[in-house]
Parts: sequence; C-alpha cells; structure tokens
Amino acid sequence: MAVRQDVVPGAETTEAQIAVHWKEEEYVYPPAKFIGQANLSDPAIAERFQEKNFPECFREYADMLTWDKYWHTTLDASNPPFWKWFVGGKLNACYNCVDRHLPKYKNKAALIFVPEPEDEPVAFITYQELYTRVNEVAAVLRDFCGLKTGDRVTIHMPMIPELPITMLACARLGIIHSVVFGGFSGEAAGLRAADSGSRVMIYADGYYRNGKIADHKASADIAVEHAEKEGQKIDKVLVWRRHRGQYLSAKPMVEGRDYFMDDILKDFRLRKVDPVSMDAEAPLFLMYTSGTTGKPKGCQHRTGGYLAYVTGTAKYYQDIHPEDVYWCMADIGWITGHSYIVYGPLALAGSSVIFEGVPTYPDAGRPWRIAEQLAVNIFHTSPTAIRMLRKTGPDEPKKYNYHFKHMTTVGEPIEPESWRWYHEVVGKREAAIVDTWWQTENGGFLCSTKPALDPMKPGSAGPPVLGIFPIIYDEQGKEVQAGSGRAGNICIRNPWPGIMQTVWKDDERFVKQYYTKYCKNRESKDWHDWPYFASDGAVLAPDGYYRILGRVDDVINVAGHRLGTKEIESACLTVPGVAEAAVVPVVDEIKGRMPVVYIALRPGVSDGKRVEQEIVTTLETMIGKIARPKAVHIVTDLPKTRSGKIMRRVLAAITNSMDTGDVTTLANPDVVDQIWQEVQGTGPVVKKEGPEDLKRFGEVE
Ligand code: WTA
Repeated sequence: MAVRQDVVPGAETTEAQIAVHWKEEEYVYPPAKFIGQANLSDPAIAERFQEKNFPECFREYADMLTWDKYWHTTLDASNPPFWKWFVGGKLNACYNCVDRHLPKYKNKAALIFVPEPEDEPVAFITYQELYTRVNEVAAVLRDFCGLKTGDRVTIHMPMIPELPITMLACARLGIIHSVVFGGFSGEAAGLRAADSGSRVMIYADGYYRNGKIADHKASADIAVEHAEKEGQKIDKVLVWRRHRGQYLSAKPMVEGRDYFMDDILKDFRLRKVDPVSMDAEAPLFLMYTSGTTGKPKGCQHRTGGYLAYVTGTAKYYQDIHPEDVYWCMADIGWITGHSYIVYGPLALAGSSVIFEGVPTYPDAGRPWRIAEQLAVNIFHTSPTAIRMLRKTGPDEPKKYNYHFKHMTTVGEPIEPESWRWYHEVVGKREAAIVDTWWQTENGGFLCSTKPALDPMKPGSAGPPVLGIFPIIYDEQGKEVQAGSGRAGNICIRNPWPGIMQTVWKDDERFVKQYYTKYCKNRESKDWHDWPYFASDGAVLAPDGYYRILGRVDDVINVAGHRLGTKEIESACLTVPGVAEAAVVPVVDEIKGRMPVVYIALRPGVSDGKRVEQEIVTTLETMIGKIARPKAVHIVTDLPKTRSGKIMRRVLAAITNSMDTGDVTTLANPDVVDQIWQEVQGTGPVVKKEGPEDLKRFGEVE
C-alpha cells in the first residue's frame, strides 16, 4: 500500500486512513406531481430486479421491444467476459425506433430540430416523415454505395437531423455505424474510419456554431487523406447540405468521390427498404473512446441487449412518455446522444429535440427560450453546461415560462452547489433530478436514483440502477465497505445487456482493460469471477448511494468528454523541438478538468514561445478544439522514476497546488522544486486537500 504524506506535513498516513472529506448532503424529495405520472412508481420493481432474479429480470426491458423472433437464452455467460444477451432473438433497431410507431404516432414529432440561428424556423419531423427519409437514405447506402449488413460506415457530422436519420438508415440494413463527434478534427475522424475499416464516410458541408458557419466539409478531405495513410481507401464521401442546393463549404467536391446527398436522393424518392432482421448479438454500432493506452478504442455495441437496455432505462429513469417533449442537450456524437437522444427516446415513441448550437449563443437565455417555445418537459445536460449557464446567466431561467418535470445530469461529478442551482433555479423546484453515472462502454446508466421512488442527494449519483450490482475494491482487491468514508475503484460484479461486446478487432484489449484487474481466476467460466473495472474512483455512503469521484486512469474528463493523456502527449511529440511531453489534468471552474502540457525541449531549441503555439495548433488539428490545453509549460526536465517513467502524479499535484507526496524515490528529485518555481512561481505551496481523482491520477495503467 502506498504510504503518503497527508494533512500534517511529515506525518505518515496510509491511504486507508485518508478519509474522504465530504459532508453528507440532505435528501431532496421528488414532487408529488411527478410521482403521480411516473413510468416507474411501483416499489415492487426492486424485488423483481433482485440478484436472485438475475439475469431473467432483464426480460422486462427486452419485452419493451418488438422482436421478429423471441430469444431462447436471456444470458449466455459461458465464455467470460464475452457475454451474449437474448441469444437466438432477432430484431431490427430501426424498425423498433421508427416503423412500429406508425400505427399510433405517425403524425407525432419524432425529432424536433432547433437550428442555432433563432430566425430559422424549428423543424418538426414526424414519425411518418422519419420513416420516409430513413428508407430513402437506406436505399442510397445499399444501392448507390453498395453497402451491406456488417459493413462499417463512419459518420462525422454535426447536430442536424440528418445525423440520426443516417444512423437509423444504417441500423435498418445492419450496417455498423461509427459516429465521430463533429467537433473532432478531420484527422481524428480519418484514423477512426481506418480502424473501423469504413470505405464510406458521411459528412455535412457546414453548420452554425456560435453565430458563425463552421466549414465541416474541409474535415472530410483531411479525414480521407489520413484514412488512406493508414491503408484504408475511402471510395465515397456523402455530403449532406445544411441548406438544400446551397453549399456552405469553401472546399471543392472531389469528382467521383464526393456526392451531395440532396442530389443523389432525387433518384431515391419514396424508396422503401425492408428492415433486415438482425441477430440480437449482431453489432449495432462502434463508438470510439479514449482509454489508458495509446489510440482510442472502438467500443462495439450489440443490437438486442443495447437497445433493450437503453429503452428500459430511458423509460424508467428518464421517464419518457410519448406525449413528453424531451431535450437532451448533449451531442449525438457521444454515447449520451446515441443512447438518450436517438435510440432510447425513439424506441419509446418519444419526441426528441436536437439543438444545433451552443447553449450560450446568442445569450444564456437561449436554452430556456427553447424550453418555453417547445414546451420541453424533460431536460438532460451536463455539469459543465450547468456551470456555464449559471455563470453567464444565473437569473435567466426565471424569465421564461417553462416547466420541467424531470432533469438529468451526466458526464462528470457535479458539486452540490451547482446541483442546487440546477434544482432551484433551472428546475424551479418542480422537477425530479437524476444524476446518472455511466460510460461509453456501458450502453446506459449504471447508477441513478429512480426518479419517483428514491430521494435525490446533491452530488451523489445514487444507488445502482436496476439489475446492476457494484462493488468498490481497494488496490489489493479487498472490498471497501459502505460508510467507511474511503474511496476505492468501483466495479460492477455482473454482466448487463448494455455492456459493450468487445473492443473492435481487439478482444485482448477488452479483457485487459476492463476485466483482468480484479479477476481472480482467468480460467473461470463463472461470471461471478469477472467484475467489470470501470476506472472510476467512488465512495459508498451508509445509505447505499455512490458518489463518483472521477477517473483513476490517465484519462482527462474535459467538460464531460474523455481525452486520453497518451493521445495528447503523442500529438505534442510531433511538434519539432519537443523532446518529451507529459499531460495532466487541472481543475477548471467551468469544464471540470482541462489538460495542462509539460514539455522538455530538445537541446539547442530556444524558441519556446513558438513551440508552445505550435503545440496548441497541433492538438487542435490532430484531436480537435476540445483538447486545447489550459497551459503549456516548458520545463528543464520532467520528474521521473529511476526506471525512466514520467511521474504524472507529481505533475498533477504541482499543477493543482496539492501535496506531491513522497518524491525521494525519483531519479531527479530536485526537478520537483524547479517545477514548482517555474509553474507556480514559488516553492511548494501545499494545499492540504485536492480532488480524489487528482490524488490518484494515473494510478491505474
Ligand atoms: C464520468 C459518458 C460522475 C466518469 C456517459 C466516467 C461521471 C466517464 C458521471 C465516462 C456522473 C459520467 N458523475 N462522473 N454522473 N457520468 N462520469 O464514456 O468518470 O464519455 O468514467 O460516458 O465520465 O465518460 P463517457
């Protein structure tokens, strides 16, 4: 066990003794009006989802779907950790999200598109229109692009309705979509396209962001070039035009490779494509995410289990009814958008709002105007957006006449103070709030209160969701008990239908990253021996509520988005003059965490300012603006162990004015004082406390 110096300098304390200083918050109870109408208001549900009823309890979720063929085995766990769900079952995800709603809801909005320019009218896409458009696009993919079941397609698009339409068209044919967040660079999209083996990429020409037009087609050219460098030829680039017939990009179309969707669709008017009946275990999509080692990994999600899980959790935890107007302000390019803008809400015949722009443009009242205009009653966002809206427009919500019955926060830990503003000012004390903890790998929520049944506790995600059985382990694999006040690594003991199938083309990485840490016997065929390791620190209160502290690996959660420090570091190393780079998180008032870059220059390089500038632009082009560092520090040397490993934990401590702990084992302990001097302009200023994730940064690799 690591011995650290804590609170009293000089006194030695073991990790076990480091209490997590956190005042228990008071419960807040859901309003009676909410409880009266909730999808989940019967406390007997807890009984049905008890461990003794696992895995059959998940039938309740799968039964919310329409199956072409019913499954014979709910869970096949015979080859851990490669679980199979609803084995033998057949279904189509697009059919479940679109076709099956037509008899009852054809004239109801499925998607409501809110353009960023406020003078451009909102577009309501009914289930009937969605059906027509998805069929036409499926026909293009099949007959114009020659794509078939099992092929992969990379979609790099902003928040316009053509994004979910394209995803659903893929799902209709069993084509595996891989959506790359629109804010990622062309290079990042190209590398992901190559990894997934996509020969078709789908783009938009441009979109509105912060009052300006972003030229997105420019990214397509860069993506194709990078995919080809990786050995993946891109045959076709389909380009949706934000305004039909009008081209927003300055980049020319490449003859024989690039096609405007509005042109091609003319030949596919009203075409119908039968949904392909897919095995429950057939992959539905890939979503790339950052992890501990080098390049992003393609999380491969299955059709039946995933769709059942997001539908069940969207119904019970988001409380979506067909008559609600549901707005999740996340981007579809992240897992939250996949599960809780597209698949979950549409499987429930919900009306899901898609907002193109940034929430503070043209002012911080925009989200609340949209809420009033559309009568949004379910609202879903992240702590970063909450902090930003609170900072820029603390009194704005009061000016608008909207009423939320339900609100969600997701993506990062939320401080109780921001939670309270969200509850009192945004929610006007009328809404039930769920703080949902989960990850790209998980498909859907893992911890959350049941909105009508459990009280809320500001800053705590709450109890595990139905059918999820977590455990907190310390580094030695001993269980950390509820109420001990100690933090440990949160794991999930059991498989669940939303968990990813594997890492695309890399089963070994899947096993290594998520299952080996606490697996006592790799030969075991019993799922009880295979806890899922989430890479998050957590504390369990005596009441069974989990408080999630953040990552314990070297992932930096920027505004709710995961960035790998290794990816950022390797991008920095491409800048001429850089000898070594280390990246650590720093606390940011709005974004939660931001990367800070430490650089050692090659001998003879003196133009530090230029290198700093180049690092910023390199990160923007190789990863995207989201990776923009809060600071770049040029230092004489980086702290290293005797074996030459960079001690990121020490840099993280200095960056955040925290105790660096014992540094005597470093190969170059003197550099610690130098860095304090260079970075903070002082000798060590020890703040006694710092966030748990920063204390443990990089602990798990
Ligand atoms: C963090 C987003 C605290 C966590 C759905 C996790 C949270 C990572 C919460 C996954 C929450 C997500 N409270 N932390 N409610 N939700 N996280 O893959 O560190 O983009 O591991 O999935 O975000 O990020 P991802």
